Amino acid sequence: MRVTLIAGNWKMNNTHLEGMRLVQQIGHEIADVNPQKVEVAVCPPFTALRTIQTLIDADRYDLVLGAQNMYLAEEGAFTGEISAGMLKALNVTYVILGHSERREILGENDDEVNLKVKVAYGAGLTPIICCGETESEHAAEETRSKVERQIQAALAGVGPDRVRSAVIAYEPIWAIGTGQTATPKEAQTTVAYIRSVVSDMVGADVAGAMRLLYGGSVKAGNAKALMSQPDIDGALVGGASLEAAEFSAIVKAVT
Ligand code: 13P
Repeated sequence: MRVTLIAGNWKMNNTHLEGMRLVQQIGHEIADVNPQKVEVAVCPPFTALRTIQTLIDADRYDLVLGAQNMYLAEEGAFTGEISAGMLKALNVTYVILGHSERREILGENDDEVNLKVKVAYGAGLTPIICCGETESEHAAEETRSKVERQIQAALAGVGPDRVRSAVIAYEPIWAIGTGQTATPKEAQTTVAYIRSVVSDMVGADVAGAMRLLYGGSVKAGNAKALMSQPDIDGALVGGASLEAAEFSAIVKAVT
């Protein structure tokens, strides 16, 4: 039984003070939501993690914490970077890895994502591994080959027990922040394909247990149709996660 995961990726938005307000509002809005049915995660910028962690603990909100990135080495002389161990010490559960903005804007490649996945597991974090095709790759019908390459690379050398707990987010780049979503059918087709890629790597049992998310202009109005697809186990939400009412409405739409 795969528990639905709705994760809010705040990207480079919200100071720790703004983040506190947002989390308090979300915490109140989803107070009646059963955490056994849907797990809700917030992924603030690094600078807000400590504050949000304290708030979640103090007010006992049913929210888990995620980070948006981490460095690929465990420690050392890497000025400006943040380690997996530092995140773990803040009670961070999830770390988003290989987001298309990091790949496209900051030049992160498949090998780096793979290293990060391994280092994340080593520290006890669960990766949310992102994959997805550009608009031109979509038009050229290269979606499958792109996500297959990304997933095979990200999970290379990762044992089945770890893969079982991993989360993969399919985020078509052309749908991110554009208001354009993949149709539920199209998203389902690609997400099911991703599950088959994982199945070929580590077996159907593991692939069937892992959670696969859709991301790209998810809103309260389209969440239900997307999340009711058989292989889509939740959403990675960008813009709509910055508004408490909209984000909470997405959570409620899938319960
Ligand atoms: P939007 O929901 O703003 O399209 O962003 C999706 C995303 O990139 C989440 O990681």
